[in-house]
Amino acid sequence: MPFKIQVAETAGFCFGVRKALDKLLEIRNNTDEPVRTLGPLIHNDQVLMALKKRKVQQLTDNEEVTGKHVVLRAHGVTPKTRNNLKARHAKVCDATCPKVGQVQAIVKKYTGKGCPVIIVGDKGHAEVDGLLGYSRDLGIVIPGPDEAKHLKGGEEVCVVAQTTQDQNVFVDTVKIIREKYAQCHEFNTICDATSERQQETRGLARKSDLMIVVGGSHSANTQRLSDIAAEHCRTVMIQTQDDIREEMFHGVHKVGITAGASTPAWVIRDVVNTVHKTGWKQSGILSASLFSLVSILVETNLSWAGGMALLSLSLNRLVTGQYYGWIAATLFLLIWVWRSHGKRLSPGLDFGVISAFTTLASLPVLINDGIPSVVRLSVLGYLTATILIRLLFHDCLHVQADRIAGLQTLPVVSCEGMVMRLVLVASGSMLVLASILAITLKQVPVLSLLLAPVMELVCLMYLFRKPHWLTLKASILFESPIWLTIGLVGLLLAI
Ligand code: F3S
Repeated sequence: MPFKIQVAETAGFCFGVRKALDKLLEIRNNTDEPVRTLGPLIHNDQVLMALKKRKVQQLTDNEEVTGKHVVLRAHGVTPKTRNNLKARHAKVCDATCPKVGQVQAIVKKYTGKGCPVIIVGDKGHAEVDGLLGYSRDLGIVIPGPDEAKHLKGGEEVCVVAQTTQDQNVFVDTVKIIREKYAQCHEFNTICDATSERQQETRGLARKSDLMIVVGGSHSANTQRLSDIAAEHCRTVMIQTQDDIREEMFHGVHKVGITAGASTPAWVIRDVVNTVHKTGWKQSGILSASLFSLVSILVETNLSWAGGMALLSLSLNRLVTGQYYGWIAATLFLLIWVWRSHGKRLSPGLDFGVISAFTTLASLPVLINDGIPSVVRLSVLGYLTATILIRLLFHDCLHVQADRIAGLQTLPVVSCEGMVMRLVLVASGSMLVLASILAITLKQVPVLSLLLAPVMELVCLMYLFRKPHWLTLKASILFESPIWLTIGLVGLLLAI
């Protein structure tokens, strides 16, 4: 590949955005009544479009709100707006980020004592407007040090920052304000999620020739990341992978990718994929074809369906001595259609489908009375665990989009930890069952079955160390072709 790609670990949803979405989805999933948001819930068109499909819309001017659920956005609103909605009998759900709530409390406290408050932030931004609402007309908004120079000064002042403000801008602005006021109560209210993101972006931009910043065009924090990156290298701000052009990468050796706090993981993932594809394309036809082949195998679930078919074929051959090509072919088609067209269903239905497939995959062994029960059950258990792990990994990768779309997959309905524990138990079971098969059958090819659980456990350890969708994606990309190879090797050895 002609250029290296590094993706920021902090890219994507921050704690406040996730919490706001959680609150909204909890209401959406539990009622058929209309759900409205006051302004855009977050600044990201892809998320807003997905929510619109679930009939979550922005409250329009003069809309009747009596009895309607109205969700207040993560940026917060003025107390007047909140009270107004309550007075109009709306069912108000406050999704204001707790960090923004803390800044509102500071503004309220100091202006309550008659102390003016300076907000270092963007005039007209929803969060800043909300803060001004708590300031009893004692609030002033200034964007940075240049404007601070024009302040008249006075006795006492309180200074806060918009939570997504640039650290350096805030520090420089406060320095000037201190000189103008006798007493300055300063609060660096830039939230941790923002500072970590900015810090990582700075570091990444310093090592990169090109920075790609992914996020909504109205997102202040994304724009800020783009400004920070632009201080160190060529930077482009994009909304989706459709904005990527091959010319962007001319003369580039290192690409850094980061994203705003309201950018969903699936948008970042698509951008990363497209950048990878562009890189491979530029490095020649052979490597580009190889990369495309692996991507197609993984993305179209062909490696999953093929791996399962080969495993079934080699296990049945090992235990019964016969080839059951029609079972392998049927299994391949069923899995492929299930994943590619049936998409993700629901945990109950998924478990039912898994049971049906694994019964079919091990049918020749199961119905053969001459085979000891321990072997029959081990074959069934091994194949069940294998297909379950695949399902969990793939569904984990789509969990954010599935939650917003309202799909009930296992990672959606249970917590992340529970899914990881399930994968751990399934991998451990595979290891035990493969060992039982190796001991009872006493055949060398069976040993190849041990490779799959060992590989799953290595992937899991990697995931536990760096729990991020990117690590998960790397694991799937890494293990899918290997898993297909294990099935093939097992079969070759069994011949
Ligand atoms: Fe809250 Fe910070 Fe995100 S203020 S909404 S956690 S960027």
